[in-house]
Amino acid sequence: MTSALLHGKKGIIFGALNEKSIAWQVALKAREHGAELVLTNSPVAIRLGTIDELASITGSRVIPADAVKMEDIERLITESMDYFGGRFDFILHSIGMSPNVRKEIPYENTSYENMLKTFDISALSFHRILQTAYKHDAIREWGSVVALSYVAAQRTLTGYNDMGDAKALLESIARSFGYIYGRDRKVRVNTISQSPTPTTAGSGIHGFESLVDFSERMSPLGNASAEECADYCVVLFSDLTRKVTMQNLYHDGGFSNMGMSLKAIEQYRKSFEDCD
Ligand SMILES: NC(=O)c1ccc[n+]([C@@H]2O[C@H](COP(=O)([O-])OP(=O)(O)OC[C@H]3O[C@@H](n4cnc5c(N)ncnc54)[C@H](O)[C@@H]3O)[C@@H](O)[C@H]2O)c1
Repeated sequence: MTSALLHGKKGIIFGALNEKSIAWQVALKAREHGAELVLTNSPVAIRLGTIDELASITGSRVIPADAVKMEDIERLITESMDYFGGRFDFILHSIGMSPNVRKEIPYENTSYENMLKTFDISALSFHRILQTAYKHDAIREWGSVVALSYVAAQRTLTGYNDMGDAKALLESIARSFGYIYGRDRKVRVNTISQSPTPTTAGSGIHGFESLVDFSERMSPLGNASAEECADYCVVLFSDLTRKVTMQNLYHDGGFSNMGMSLKAIEQYRKSFEDCD
């Protein structure tokens, strides 16, 4: 039997595009644990994706919002408060997009216009959401806000492009706003640094399949799946983690603390076997 860690809790989940999305799995798990949800995504993603299916499975309301438009975020927060009948308990920020990655423009030759869009969509949107929720006092005491990050914020991983910079900014915003939100309202703000996961956004990274294979071989526990990430999010939304805030929490099977593993070095050696 599933325990109801989120019984009586209400929250907004950004970023469920389709069933591969990490946010999709978080919505399913949060519902399974008793939460009531508002699901949101950009209007174009709602048209192209399958969020309505998720809304029907989880009995949730869908409210469109482009995360770079302040008026959309304002409307989302106020409409969610109307829907929930007041303040709510958690938010998941699961938003990422880089036009440079999408157009395969290399980092050393970046378009700054694209780079600003990357930062705006993937990182500043987090500030925008936190600021709006704070302004409306939308989150209850001991509430929890989580954003999804990646180890490219700390280490350079080829192909991750300006998303590495965006994730570093995202994690910094979690610390900066985490201080203010914790001090003033007792609300937690954290990021989860997740393993590479086969989703629409993930698969857009150049060499993604090799990256998944490499981190699988490097991680003592193997890569963490979207479903496992959802479990971790539920724990962070729950009352079991009330004093965890301003942290970047690795959920990556141990990858971030590895240098070289036996499995990875064996594969590396094999690559020389056909050489003279
Ligand atoms: N897949 C991975 O390997 C991986 C690893 C670590 C962290 N992450 C992070 O997890 C999060 C979710 O990504 P995912 O892998 O589930 O892929 P996904 O493609 O399913 O989700 C990305 C979401 O961002 C949304 N989005 C993009 N622009 C938006 C905008 N302007 N307004 C509102 N929403 C917008 C998309 O519509 C989509 O739903 C992202 O922050 C991503 O960087 C992913």
